[in-house]
Amino acid sequence: MSRSDDMERVDKLLARSFGVANGHLLVAGLDIDDLAATYGTPLFVYDRARVEAQLNTLNQVLPDSFDLFYSIKANPNASILRYLHAAGCGLEIASAGEFHQALAAGCPAERIIFAGPGKTMDELELVVSSGIGEIHAESQTEIERLAEVCDRLERSVHVALRVNPSEEVAGGAMRMGGTSSPFGIDEEALEDALARLLAHERLTFAGIHLFTGTQILDHEILAAQYRRGIEIGRRASKQAARALMTIDFGGGLGVPYFPGEEAINLQGLGQELAALMAEIADDPAFAGTRFVLEPGRFLVGEAGVYVSRITDVKVSRDKKFLIMDGGMHHHLAASGNLGMVIKRNFPAAVATKLDVAERETVDIVGPLCTPLDTVGRSVALPPAEIGDLVAIFQSGAYARAASPLGFLSHRSPPEVWADDGAHTLIRRRGDSADYLLDQPDFS
Ligand SMILES: Cc1ncc(COP(=O)(O)O)c(C=O)c1O
Repeated sequence: MSRSDDMERVDKLLARSFGVANGHLLVAGLDIDDLAATYGTPLFVYDRARVEAQLNTLNQVLPDSFDLFYSIKANPNASILRYLHAAGCGLEIASAGEFHQALAAGCPAERIIFAGPGKTMDELELVVSSGIGEIHAESQTEIERLAEVCDRLERSVHVALRVNPSEEVAGGAMRMGGTSSPFGIDEEALEDALARLLAHERLTFAGIHLFTGTQILDHEILAAQYRRGIEIGRRASKQAARALMTIDFGGGLGVPYFPGEEAINLQGLGQELAALMAEIADDPAFAGTRFVLEPGRFLVGEAGVYVSRITDVKVSRDKKFLIMDGGMHHHLAASGNLGMVIKRNFPAAVATKLDVAERETVDIVGPLCTPLDTVGRSVALPPAEIGDLVAIFQSGAYARAASPLGFLSHRSPPEVWADDGAHTLIRRRGDSADYLLDQPDFS
């Protein structure tokens, strides 16, 4: 990666989403140095206005028949859930824990969709008895389990079938369909699965869910995936002899992390969707259908910044290392160890030296005793000192939530909500003593 790549990516982000004053990073107008002094480091800061901007730009291009469900797994912080629910989103969950989080955020059960493999009897009982909006079954077993739960509870539930399409719609960074997959029911087996579902009177067939990849930046690939969903939905509607209530196209909308990546062309996506909706306008399979998107990363990714402090600067042979008080245990994705084939650097900056033009090449590492704990490799940064802050951008999604927080028993990082010059602690720093409390005394 060249120096100019590193600088250009950060400059773009600073111009679009953040600010600079006296060489310091501003998040929602707040000086990062002040936030670090108030809350300590390492910490995550989320800018509400960035979440709002992403939501608004997406809503602007979606046809009226679309309904957004935020995918909690990207970032389950209660303030984010409350904000997105209040802004009109439903919530997509993948566990009983996420169901409780969604309810605690004030989201009514009927605005919750439950997708994801391996749903247990206990989880299904919980959500069915609470009146969940829809369950998206990922296997025949789940259909049978749901039938049993509904019979026992004497309740009915809306069930959509998640389909693993027979051909891959290429282009996502992480493939979740089109090949052998634990996700969804193979398209070839859909007819059988639907017949089983239709045979249970307490299970109401709601529709089709198709989601085959995450971090997709090409709107044409997304549109192609949606077209496949329509095709499969049309067949399912014919078999069920009625219109579909739901077609869920999943999440997958990406954000640019790496050199050469550009934000999705949302206008282009909007045009493709408008064309698709026009094509199916008279199709009885889709009379009154709601089209669901369940984005996670797209809504919250860019809103988050991970901030840690330099505790040591070390030269070893021909390399210079910035040693931070945070690292991969809080941000596995930035270390390149969360499903990445090639380790590439997240955009990073010395957040207290943004006015320094000089550059040197350094590695940014965390405090863990493993070479995996590298969150920046050969990054061009201004010469930094112990005490400076380093910001890793694009850290709102799959960052804290997808990290091995217990590894090496450091305290877990707090989260701060930044809203137009105001800041609130929305998750306290974990105590390393928490790890002791979890363990029974065997002595
Ligand atoms: C079923 C389902 N829906 C939505 C999402 C959110 O995906 P993304 O964050 O790429 O939008 C995921 C992510 O894995 C998922 O598995």
